[in-house]
Amino acid sequence: MIPDKAPKEDVFHGSEDLKKEAHITSFENYKELYMKSIENPDEFWGDVAKDFFWKTKHTGQFLDYNFDVTKGEIFVKCMEGASTNISYNLLDRNVHERKLGDKVAFYWEGNEPGDELTVTYRELLQRVCQFANVLKSQGVKKGDRVSIYMPMVVELVVAMLACARIGAVHSIVRRSLPSSLFLPLIRSDGFYRGDKLINLKLLADEALQKCRDKGFPIEKCIMLKHLSKEAEETSLGSQSPPAKRSCPDLQQEKQTGRVKKTRPVPQVPWNPEVDLCWHALVRGASDECEPEWCGSEDPLFILYTSGSTGKPKGVLHTVSGYMLYTAATFKLVFDYQLDDVYWCTADIGWITGHSYITYGPLANGATSVLFEGLPTYPDVSRMWEIVDKYHVTKFYTAPTAIRLLMKYGSEPVQKYKRESLKVLGTVGEPINPEAWQWYYNVVGERRCPIVDTFWQTETGGHVLTPLPAATPMKPGSATFPFFGVVPAILNESGEELEGPSEGYLVFKQPWPGVMRTVYGNHQRFETTYFKKFPGYYVTGDGCRRDKDGYYWITGRIDDMLNVSGHLLSTAEVESALVEHEAVAEAAVVGRPHPVKGESLYCFVTLADGVTYNRTLEAELKKQVREKIGAIATPDYIQNAPALPKTRSGKIMRRVLRKIACDERDLGDISTLADSSVVEQLFQNRCCTAV
Ligand code: PRX
Repeated sequence: MIPDKAPKEDVFHGSEDLKKEAHITSFENYKELYMKSIENPDEFWGDVAKDFFWKTKHTGQFLDYNFDVTKGEIFVKCMEGASTNISYNLLDRNVHERKLGDKVAFYWEGNEPGDELTVTYRELLQRVCQFANVLKSQGVKKGDRVSIYMPMVVELVVAMLACARIGAVHSIVRRSLPSSLFLPLIRSDGFYRGDKLINLKLLADEALQKCRDKGFPIEKCIMLKHLSKEAEETSLGSQSPPAKRSCPDLQQEKQTGRVKKTRPVPQVPWNPEVDLCWHALVRGASDECEPEWCGSEDPLFILYTSGSTGKPKGVLHTVSGYMLYTAATFKLVFDYQLDDVYWCTADIGWITGHSYITYGPLANGATSVLFEGLPTYPDVSRMWEIVDKYHVTKFYTAPTAIRLLMKYGSEPVQKYKRESLKVLGTVGEPINPEAWQWYYNVVGERRCPIVDTFWQTETGGHVLTPLPAATPMKPGSATFPFFGVVPAILNESGEELEGPSEGYLVFKQPWPGVMRTVYGNHQRFETTYFKKFPGYYVTGDGCRRDKDGYYWITGRIDDMLNVSGHLLSTAEVESALVEHEAVAEAAVVGRPHPVKGESLYCFVTLADGVTYNRTLEAELKKQVREKIGAIATPDYIQNAPALPKTRSGKIMRRVLRKIACDERDLGDISTLADSSVVEQLFQNRCCTAV
């Protein structure tokens, strides 16, 4: 499986300097430790667990599991019997045992240059305790679900860890609120993305109304005034909660200069029956809070991700395994050192932010940049300006961001020095070799290895990835498995392929951070990931292994699209479209996009008597945005009086993909019921994005 020796040709290496301080210094070193992690996982993960605090020790096997549906229920249990608290390990342990209280946990950099805030580990601990007490005072208990809908602000991390501290389960939303029963919702008034004001409060109010309509009332909403706190009371009107001006939290933030610029603030309606003010609640709350000791397998969070059948899945992660895995991957994949300044540009609302902004970095006592804005605002040098400002050493972003910046050439990058950079990372989709080369040559100046990390919401952390000082890199390959991960490539009949081959990427055994279930639907968990090939976790990705044993992800093999590193199911977009009364039928396919990777090309057949026009097009776009989220906004909508179908009525998506790309080479279309439909669709193709 893993070759004894790393290849010498056509590979890239990081600098020799990096090797000097690295945790894993050579390929041989990696292989040796990898074999240990597979042959003796208890010892390997037991060593990782020694760094953490356990209120009670585990009993029995370190990792117990069944991955074979034919042998009974699928389960994974890590460190059963142990109890701990993840917020205690991320905060109290770092402040008290490791004496990192004065170390910066986050440099918050706002959307607007000059808006900034620094938070130390001690301050973060205090704020988490205060907010944990607020949650408790609102009746939130261990096991309750709390939804969080906030921009990239420190309070988002505070809210997550406050939930974790009292054993409540957080679910951060970036899309329509799932209608499962959540007790409170924590949200903010709004935020700026570049020049654009996003009124989160209004969006959340609409979502809440939908939850109520479906019979899932959310009892309380706590609202953080991120923008409107700068404004006079008028922004909240006379229903504004009292004593806003005397809130200590606000005053402290004002002194540190956060959100300096005066800009229009969101007008937020205030419903005193439901809405509670974050700042008023926190004022007066004690900054000490005894953590709730949780069982290893107690739920930590639920994160919704697209499902190929259309309905989002609530991926559930549990306390101990997730903590160990995000901590270990963060430390080794970014080769974390105590004086590093690390920056992951992802949104915390996605798994990358959960694992590699909140949990993994804090578990290691790392200093991170937390960035609210966009790579292109106020100009396309913003990323590199921030790198120099904070002396960022380890930088983690998505191929889509690299492709976007590449378009502007190397000059905006070279305006800044970037001397501090040591390791660069990517995540979210295969990185095309051209973007890889640009990242390596221009951004990293051939000095910084690129860790192309393959993983999923479901895997909790990196599963295929280079280690910066140990793995020779091949542009576009996620290289080899992380410790404890055993990949295999299967053919359609479920046979494991050896040597150079291509097929389904699966994993043969669990690692501590793998998801435990689909929230509220264990059967769906088993069907989605374990039914197709009993005995294996099926990723849904295609994969190739080359002669040197390197793994290359070839993309999804189900009806999922990857837009800017985010998975979307075509079925989900289709159902959002057909929910509009004007639409009778919809079919959505991916069309390659130079920056986003894939864009959404939607074919819609209208209901009888409806005519297609720009107003309808705009309504459909809005409908999808509202139902799924901004990431799912259709790029192209084509009026399709009929869709190409087989005689049995199945839509031929393969043909639609060709039409979307204007490729006339259709292959065999003899099974089409009416082939004239195809020509009609070619003639009315959308050439420009809507
Ligand atoms: O298709 C793979 C792609 O993103 C999918 C997982 O998406 P999500 O759960 O939203 O998590 C994204 C962030 C971890 C995978 O099934 N993917 C992710 N990283 C890579 C990738 N494809 C190729 N190379 C990667 N490095």
